[in-house]
Amino acid sequence: MEVVNDIPQLKGVSLSKLHSLIERLKFDDNTYRHSMSVAKYSNRFNKIIAANINSETIYYSGLLHDIGKTEVNINILNKKGSLDIDEFSIMMEHSKLGYNLLKKHLMPIEMQHAALYHHERWDGNGYPMKLEKQRIPLVARIISICDVYDALTSNRPYRKAFSIDEALDIMKNSHGQFDNELLDIFSKNIDSII
Ligand SMILES: [Fe+2]
Repeated sequence: MEVVNDIPQLKGVSLSKLHSLIERLKFDDNTYRHSMSVAKYSNRFNKIIAANINSETIYYSGLLHDIGKTEVNINILNKKGSLDIDEFSIMMEHSKLGYNLLKKHLMPIEMQHAALYHHERWDGNGYPMKLEKQRIPLVARIISICDVYDALTSNRPYRKAFSIDEALDIMKNSHGQFDNELLDIFSKNIDSII
């Protein structure tokens, strides 16, 4: 499902609101490109695990998971070097900002959860709520895996993209970041996800 210009119906959601959020995401090329990949991977991954999340909902949850970044200072967002503590805490706000935005626009609860919880970790050391294990909504656990996979396999100003195998190895060795059962399925089905 390659969309954006041809937006499929998302039940009960205002198309113009959805469209305006997607337009907003285009403020930054990297965020937009990354979001498109996460949407595509999440949709395919969701089908494989046969989760009870419909295709459009997971697609837009992936597409708009980082929408809160549209409210983060662009200089911090695009800073070439590493962020200092203050800058990092401003950056971390993007998950709550995204949640507030999607809630305000009456987007489905799964999309709100994806924005709010995609930086939670299985071991409870993520943010913003430090949820752990199954307390993290499934939609956010799916998107977290697709999010990190795409980040690792993309070029960065300070490093080249990792290969598929390198990225999966890094993720498997991340000790407590992901739902391992899901990561295992993701890894075994990578050819049909990317
Ligand atoms: Fe994020």
